[in-house]
Amino acid sequence: MSAQQMMKVFVTRRIPQEGMKILQKAGMCNLSVWDSDEPVPRAELLKGVAGAHGILCLLSDKIDTEVLDAAGPNLKVISTLSVGFDHLAIDEIKKRGIRVGYTPDVLTDATAELTVALLLATARRLPEGVEEVKNGGWSTWKPLWLCGYGLSGSTVGVIGLGRIGLAIARRLKPFGVKRLLYTGRQPKPQAQEVDGEYVPLDTLLSECDFVVVSCSLTPDTQGLCDKTFFSKMKKTSIFINTSRGAVVNQEDLFEALSSGQIAAAGLDVTTPEPLPTDHPLLTLKNCVVLPHIGSATYSTRGVMSALTANNLLAGLTGSEMPSELKL
Ligand code: NDP
Ligand code: DGY
Repeated sequence: MSAQQMMKVFVTRRIPQEGMKILQKAGMCNLSVWDSDEPVPRAELLKGVAGAHGILCLLSDKIDTEVLDAAGPNLKVISTLSVGFDHLAIDEIKKRGIRVGYTPDVLTDATAELTVALLLATARRLPEGVEEVKNGGWSTWKPLWLCGYGLSGSTVGVIGLGRIGLAIARRLKPFGVKRLLYTGRQPKPQAQEVDGEYVPLDTLLSECDFVVVSCSLTPDTQGLCDKTFFSKMKKTSIFINTSRGAVVNQEDLFEALSSGQIAAAGLDVTTPEPLPTDHPLLTLKNCVVLPHIGSATYSTRGVMSALTANNLLAGLTGSEMPSELKL
């Protein structure tokens, strides 16, 4: 391919080598990479995408009208290294006929596994226990010390029984969960597999011992978990969110946790990310916060990287993408 025919591609971060190798081997991309583990500054992003045919981005890059304008009319494809696409201005992208690749399915197991780990860590107070061992707070075995809540015989509610929601439900059932409730926009036939009962949100909140949020972030779900939401939960219930931080009103969550309205919360996602180290939620023993590591296994990130690269190449050549977002 001649230098003029090469497609200009801007990669917004250092990504796992699996994806880079695919892009390099294709021999059709003039690659420009923000070669850092830290996010590309906005000004560099706007500069980097100028004239690009393809953008390979991350969930931390806001791809809005300004970025699309900066890229200009060459832009054919945006391939994101994520299944969530709330960082992309989808309406504007669609209007401009740009294709979008994303990474569903390949991270479902890793994210569901992390969600179960977070739920257990929160409900059984693992971070508190580890801290007590280290700081000398462990004096002897005490009948009521560091007691938490177990899954056996419990009722679990999943908000958004999609790919990840179902995978979480599958993993939780063998712990002896008695009832599995779920809510969303419509009942899901695949819920049968986990004996899932489709219920209104209010029923889920009032009946569940564990409430797990695994829906996508949309205008409808933004701020869904607010004061009213928490007020409907049991005082002994545990709240888990591995979807997006903006689904939760964090001031209302702080109030619910500190007033004893709910027992505990486990969050893998926050607003903003990173959560400032002086954030009030981090002062609470009954709030476990992880740094958005749902899909963070070596193999999953490698597969995500390869899929993101292959989506990008398909978008550049106008062929079928392994995982194209239907706009
Ligand atoms: P899916 O599209 O398969 O699932 C999303 C679910 O959200 C669907 O079941 C959908 O229901 C539901 N939903 C949409 N709107 C609403 C609503 N108003 N109320 C309740 N439910 C709703 O996506 P995935 O399961 O693959 O991923 C889900 C999300 O998880 C991603 O969008 C991403 O934000 C997050 N994620 C986080 C990770 C992490 O590291 N913590 C890793 C991977 C993903 P319906 O089908 O009825 O529209
Ligand atoms: C996603 O893919 O949307 C996650 O948040 C990170 O894997």
